[in-house]
Amino acid sequence: MASAAETIKERLGIVEVVSSYVKIEKAGSNHKGRCPFHHEKSPSFFVSPGRGSYYCFGCGAKGDIFTFVQEFEKVDFVGALKILAERAGVELEQFKNEKKGEYDRLRDVLELSTKFFEYELTKNSKALQYLKDRGLSDAMIKEWRIGFAPNEWRNIHDFLLTKKVSISDMELVGLVKKSDKEGGRGETVYDRFRSRVMFPLFDPSSRVIGYSGRIFGIPDTEGPKYLNSPDTPLFNKSETLYGYHKAKEGIREHQYAILVEGQMDLLMCHQSGFTNTVATSGTSLTPQHLEKLKRHTDNLKIVYDADKAGLKATLRAWTGAIALGMNVKIAGLPNGEDPASMLLKDKEGFKLALKNSKHIIDYYIEILSKEGLSNPNFRKAVEKEVLPYVAVVDSAIERSNFISKVSVQTGIYESDIREEVEKIRSSPTFVNGNIAPSKDSTTSYSKDEDTISIIRKTFTSYASDTTTIKRVAGLILWLRSKGEDAKANSVLSDVSRIVSQQDATFFTEDLKKAPEELIFEAEILFAGSTKLDEEIAELLFGLEERTLKEQLSKTMLDLQLAEKKGDKEKGEELIKQCQDISLKLTALNKKRNI
Ligand code: CTP
Ligand code: MN
Repeated sequence: MASAAETIKERLGIVEVVSSYVKIEKAGSNHKGRCPFHHEKSPSFFVSPGRGSYYCFGCGAKGDIFTFVQEFEKVDFVGALKILAERAGVELEQFKNEKKGEYDRLRDVLELSTKFFEYELTKNSKALQYLKDRGLSDAMIKEWRIGFAPNEWRNIHDFLLTKKVSISDMELVGLVKKSDKEGGRGETVYDRFRSRVMFPLFDPSSRVIGYSGRIFGIPDTEGPKYLNSPDTPLFNKSETLYGYHKAKEGIREHQYAILVEGQMDLLMCHQSGFTNTVATSGTSLTPQHLEKLKRHTDNLKIVYDADKAGLKATLRAWTGAIALGMNVKIAGLPNGEDPASMLLKDKEGFKLALKNSKHIIDYYIEILSKEGLSNPNFRKAVEKEVLPYVAVVDSAIERSNFISKVSVQTGIYESDIREEVEKIRSSPTFVNGNIAPSKDSTTSYSKDEDTISIIRKTFTSYASDTTTIKRVAGLILWLRSKGEDAKANSVLSDVSRIVSQQDATFFTEDLKKAPEELIFEAEILFAGSTKLDEEIAELLFGLEERTLKEQLSKTMLDLQLAEKKGDKEKGEELIKQCQDISLKLTALNKKRNI
């Protein structure tokens, strides 16, 4: 008889399971997408239906439906088995009386406390009225399980004790804190959330993993306005986006995500039908947050508070998102408004703001122009603050457009702006897809260190890897291991035509060191493929593209050096070389898309 696990595996395909969590697309006989287990710009996560397994060439994550669910849902094997058994309609006799794992146990504690807080809210008419005055409907309050933590020191603590929850579990999920006082007698534990409206935070499967509590009923001076759960085994603030569990579908449907700051902003958005909204809720946006969104879309609209702090947060979020290759627009609200307040009084206005959302550069200039600066100060501000954002625009044509725009809006000559932008782009600290930071440089661009270094930091953390080379190497080894030497040799000869000297040594020397892993990867990728030749061709295109891009960035660096030294002749020659490489890249992509 087949084991439960085997039955489940038979009923649920790997593609079905993975694609319910992550966006994957068919690629040859496999599916591919962006890896949910690490941050990456381009997809290196492969799912092989034939083998029932997945493999990520970026981070090495691999396994079957069970390990996938284990890692994704943060459950142990039994937990994954249960989730998948339910989906497959398989009864799990043997686990009926099993002791629960830690995660399950902690989730149960939070389920109990959420019910308790929900009940407390029904008893507190003032808190309830407050939420209604802010515009929330009864249905929303219920759906989002909003609650109230009374103004007492050991309220949830006492309740959970009656439910036989241990104090250490209460502490683990962040509901109680131990007081620092030593030597005192009596109880030393007290509730973390007191006199607060409780907004539960959910995991992607709609289970409560923590709270954000808004102070209510006591003076704001009694503590921070919003208090979040600390990081716990279930809750990690740099990964959790408020509303994500409900927004997933909306994001896919509309093919863009709306990003807001606060709990109330998010709830009012969802209530008003903008169901593709998520909120950072009290932390700055992280690459992990963005990766989650990127599973569903590359398009993002940011609607933060229309104030100084909101602008700062917007700029950071924008930088992080474009570093991950997303398309980002900013929706501007009237001064002093946030999405919650705006939706309460003028839903159409909010809609319009979304519709008119702009590129960060237009948005930024608009904000500066409203500050009532004198003309020279306005120009200075634009030069210092906005131009770094023009400089990071990848496409030269787009950059040119922005340069003209800035010129029209500021009255600064286009040529001056262009020069300034090029200065930023050629500064040693500037990084984008083509220009790598030079290590030995002693000079640094000081115009706006801050902006540039933020942008740079974000970019460098997504530096390109050697995935493609390894993948081709694996392919060759795998072909050999199957005795297909002729094919292996033909790939190898293509490779030696394509790659640089340095990479070629990888195929002759380094390859010998770790063949085991590479063959395994290749097998998962290519075994059983019906379009092997096409896949090989695509791989070689990728390798060639990478090689050309590398050549381009090296030549560009040389060019900068030559220009610095004033070596005109060399400069011209290098420009010619850059053009040649660009032409090759264009030709390659044409060939590739036939
Ligand atoms: N926030 C936080 N801690 C604070 C203040 C704010 O975590 N001390 C987070 C909350 O998630 C909050 C969001 O930042 O929802 C936006 O903050 P802010 O704009 O100051 O909140 P308001 O919109 O004024 O909050 P409310 O609408 O509840 O009055
Ligand atoms: Mn706000």
